[in-house]
Amino acid sequence: MFIIPKFKPVKSKKSIKRIAVLTSGGDAPGMNAAIRAVVRTTLAHGCEAFGVQRGYSGLLENLIHPMGASSVANIIQRGGTILRTSRCPEFMTRKGRKQAIELLERHGIDGLVVIGGDGSFRGASILVKESGIPVMGVPGTIDNDIPCTDDTIGFDTAVNTGIQLIDKIRDTASSHDRIFLVEVMGRHSGMIALHTGMGGGAETIVVPEVRTTVNSIVEAIERGVRRGKTSSIIVVAEGCQFGGATPLAKELTKRGYSPKLAILGHTQRGGSPSAHDRLLASTLGAVAVHSLLAGVKEGMVGVEGDYVHITSFKRISQKPAVLSQQLLEISRDLAV
Ligand code: F6P
Repeated sequence: MFIIPKFKPVKSKKSIKRIAVLTSGGDAPGMNAAIRAVVRTTLAHGCEAFGVQRGYSGLLENLIHPMGASSVANIIQRGGTILRTSRCPEFMTRKGRKQAIELLERHGIDGLVVIGGDGSFRGASILVKESGIPVMGVPGTIDNDIPCTDDTIGFDTAVNTGIQLIDKIRDTASSHDRIFLVEVMGRHSGMIALHTGMGGGAETIVVPEVRTTVNSIVEAIERGVRRGKTSSIIVVAEGCQFGGATPLAKELTKRGYSPKLAILGHTQRGGSPSAHDRLLASTLGAVAVHSLLAGVKEGMVGVEGDYVHITSFKRISQKPAVLSQQLLEISRDLAV
């Protein structure tokens, strides 16, 4: 259950009339639900809604168009993003941003909602400073690596997808007495690996945040063998010290094992969002619009505990996202 801050929309000469929304960085399941929430909430408050195609690139290429209530019908259940997305290095240049600001002004946009990850928020933060246009961020990334929010849109779906795939892999692993290395996404973060590994009952979880050795992975496999296990699932974060599951598989092969590899990759980014991600996305998208209407100038709408709250972009850039050591310890005990 979310506890939502109460805002009073401000009525002033400078009050917001036109709100645009864009998705940036890697797509994540639930982004469409967030777009829908931004558009519908904007319209419900008597303002005009606009969509920017292809993230910040769309602000350089004039890919901006009005969005009505029916333009977001039947998308809450769809993965990906109907606005499409991109990673846009040009936007990190002053020249690129100048072009973007001119375009936003030309369309009379007086509030922007950016749905994306921490890279997208770095861009948003500079945009606010240089343009004076208020920008709210909504955390949308499967990685769940953004500080000041327990959760990001897409993470729950990605973890559920990972767990479903591990369940399938386990059937083969146990039928053939095999060791499987399952590589999951997450860039520099072990969040997806930890949650997918715990939920899938992995024997070992390798994350970037904690250094390990091939010897200790071998020890864990052998411990299992000693108590009668004939198969193992090792979940490996793509950003771990070994550089993913492939180099680790080579190391295990050198030591006489014959591990099989499953790289889940982009399968974890796709698919219909879970109920949790739809609710999270709908709530955060709506609160982003409420905050703009209440005169908030910038920040990310996140959730900590049950509380939906806003954190400034500056604070987000200063704090690291932390992997729970307690969860890691529990996962080790469960695999004993
Ligand atoms: O940030 C989301 C993410 O899926 C990461 O987990 C992954 O490392 C990266 O994006 C992959 O990016 P791309 O789709 O551009 O290869």
